[in-house]
Amino acid sequence: MSKLRVGVIGTGRKKERADRFGYAMAYSHAEGYKLLDTCELVACADIVEENAAAFAAKYGIGDAGVFTDYKRMLAEATLDVVSICTWMHLHEPMVVDACAAGVKAIHCEKPMADTWGGAKRMAAVAADSGVQLTFNHQRRYGEPFILAKKMLDDGQIGDLVRLECGAGNLYDTGTHFIDMFSFFNGEVPAKWVLGQIDYRQETRVFGSHNENQQVVLTEYENGVFGLIMTGVETNPVGCRDKLIGTQGVIEVGCADGPQIRYRLAGETDWTQPDTGGASIHGPMFIERAVADIVDCVRSGRKCQLDASNALIATEIIFGAYESSRRRGRVDFPLDIDDNPLAAMVENGELKPAADVEAAGR
Ligand SMILES: NC(=O)c1ccc[n+]([C@@H]2O[C@H](COP(=O)([O-])OP(=O)(O)OC[C@H]3O[C@@H](n4cnc5c(N)ncnc54)[C@H](O)[C@@H]3O)[C@@H](O)[C@H]2O)c1
Repeated sequence: MSKLRVGVIGTGRKKERADRFGYAMAYSHAEGYKLLDTCELVACADIVEENAAAFAAKYGIGDAGVFTDYKRMLAEATLDVVSICTWMHLHEPMVVDACAAGVKAIHCEKPMADTWGGAKRMAAVAADSGVQLTFNHQRRYGEPFILAKKMLDDGQIGDLVRLECGAGNLYDTGTHFIDMFSFFNGEVPAKWVLGQIDYRQETRVFGSHNENQQVVLTEYENGVFGLIMTGVETNPVGCRDKLIGTQGVIEVGCADGPQIRYRLAGETDWTQPDTGGASIHGPMFIERAVADIVDCVRSGRKCQLDASNALIATEIIFGAYESSRRRGRVDFPLDIDDNPLAAMVENGELKPAADVEAAGR
């Protein structure tokens, strides 16, 4: 089989310190493709020409493969695989355009889209076009999470009762750790969500609003509950993901240090399994994710990063914002099109103090 031709949209600019205004995730995707002899990175596009040029120079992409207009790249570069590494408000139109261009697979950065309608539309367009659409929830390939899932599947903590999550926000970082609920809980959809958010200080992450604090409860179709409780200054859960079973508890990404620990029924002390030096952030999670999406597109196997799985967490996130807007429980399927948090800011229902740092850029 010939090599898959890969292109990247939104190369970013590599900075000394990544922040909420730019991580240059395209470089992480490229490191993944570089390791695969089944792939060839042949094109990149960025509206900032020097960003595209710097990326092309690093990864050996010839001049003919460097674009400032991603639609031209899609039209001219005959791509099999596209990585979309732009900010979230651009994901939906770019996925739709890549599907129309006839690629085989799209690996898009998280969060899925900037609205619930957009997330559903991009998944539907990809499915209708026969395009593999995946989202970079790379922690599914991380040792602490895989160890926790193995312990759960082996029955070591009994039956799963509740999942808990403590992340800085629901939308930007929350999407990772709420997506891990799906990983632990066998990709079961949720039935409803009840939530409240606080948004007093405007916080734009990659351009999009993110609430400051929240309490969210959801119930999955198999009766497992999900509780998300955190904020910028507090993490009442004490870790990123907690698995509570009838016979024990596993904590992943503990605030006080351990990357994973567990305590079985009757035990007073925590046990800390060896992750081989891996944290909840890496290394090699994205490389493994990229290898898996490529293997899936070649073999036809469904990827765990598939849009259908990503929609489960995304419905909870937008559903939680909708619950705050309705001041009540929201039963699924979620019947809105917009992003309730952004809408509440736009119509003046929420009046966070201005994000001066973001506005100054
Ligand atoms: N998976 C993770 O752990 C992780 C970590 C950080 C960020 N992210 C996500 O990655 C995505 C990208 O974030 P980033 O920080 O890498 O972005 P970035 O700002 O570093 O790079 C985005 C690039 O897109 C370019 N761009 C904007 N409009 C474009 C257009 N129309 N056509 C082509 N290029 C265009 C910009 O010029 C910029 O260079 C976001 O959705 C973010 O949430 C994921």
